[in-house]
Amino acid sequence: MVEPSKTEQRKAEHVNIILKENVSAEYNYWNDIHLVHDALPEIDLDAIDLSVKFFGKKLRAPLIISSMTGGFGMGKEINANLAKAAAEVGVAMGVGSQRAALEKPELAATYAVVRDHGVPLVFANLGAPQLVPQEGKRAYGLADAKRAIDMIDADALIIHLNFLQEVVQPEGDRRAKGCLAAIRTLAAKFPVMAKETGAGISREAATRLKEAGVQAIDVGGLGGTSFSAVEHYRARKEASSLKERLGATFWNWGIPTPASIRLADVGLPLIATGGIRSGLDAAKGIALGATVAGMAKPMLEAAKVSADAVVAELRAVIEELKAAMFLTGSTSIPELQERKVIVSPPTLSWLEAREA
Ligand SMILES: Cc1cc2nc3c(=O)[nH]c(=O)nc-3n(C[C@H](O)[C@H](O)[C@H](O)COP(=O)(O)O)c2cc1C
Repeated sequence: MVEPSKTEQRKAEHVNIILKENVSAEYNYWNDIHLVHDALPEIDLDAIDLSVKFFGKKLRAPLIISSMTGGFGMGKEINANLAKAAAEVGVAMGVGSQRAALEKPELAATYAVVRDHGVPLVFANLGAPQLVPQEGKRAYGLADAKRAIDMIDADALIIHLNFLQEVVQPEGDRRAKGCLAAIRTLAAKFPVMAKETGAGISREAATRLKEAGVQAIDVGGLGGTSFSAVEHYRARKEASSLKERLGATFWNWGIPTPASIRLADVGLPLIATGGIRSGLDAAKGIALGATVAGMAKPMLEAAKVSADAVVAELRAVIEELKAAMFLTGSTSIPELQERKVIVSPPTLSWLEAREA
């Protein structure tokens, strides 16, 4: 049997740890966000239209199954279940970082399986750290990005920003200089979305990303899966006490997702990801200004069971979102985006600091 590469092992470990351990941020920032109840909504539940256009594609509901996996055995089955469900329900999906398949082309099938299902909007995925030369490794460029896109017939490319994870993980990449220029080069050629992976996007970062030509931003904020927590558990297994400590110290690092939606609003379409666990959370994200809400961990848990379990989870989220829209008198996603939102501390403090 061929030995799995380091990247393959890491992918498998991430999935196993996320499914077994508590890796959530300690505080639920969505509890700081309140929609205002309308006692006289004057709309019919059945008339609510959940559809949105994103990257030129029509989604039947404003949801994305966030980038997660591929690159190891179980990843193929998970991606197949996610893609089948995304196609059936009419929502978007992303695959996990495709670095594993760029390094080892025989792993391409673990991602390419999403092509078999007719998902309305598919995102390829590469990490920003891989766009600059890291110790002993070459930088990925336009040709690599094209290979990643073609591998899954993607409609657009996500570049994920995960420097928190890199700095706390045992074998993390240490160089961030030059990433923005590399993103600019890719964005001139392909439709690119920038995405954080749990630490959020500030106004300044969003402004720089916009100037670099990205077409949308997934704020990937604090409040859901913490990759610092994941790396804490991985370091524990490897008996790396310093990394274990770093992972614990930075467990709750970042900009809360709801605050990041407001801060990163620089005129580009936004995705609310990070701790979305219900359709009510999704409604709050949209009312704050996002166009689409993203979920990772709840989709992973369902995909481990079956495609039907993913469909059931998505449908439950959609029913909750619809209920929130009904109770705020919103017949469409643009109307929900206009609804008043009450923000309480600590999330409020992030927004007040912006005004200061
Ligand atoms: C198992 C797993 C693997 C992930 N791998 C990636 C990845 O390769 N690329 C990426 O952009 N984000 C990755 N993420 C981050 C998610 O897309 C998402 O931003 C994050 O988990 C927060 O969402 P959640 O709170 O709903 O889990 C991964 C998440 C999980 C759970």
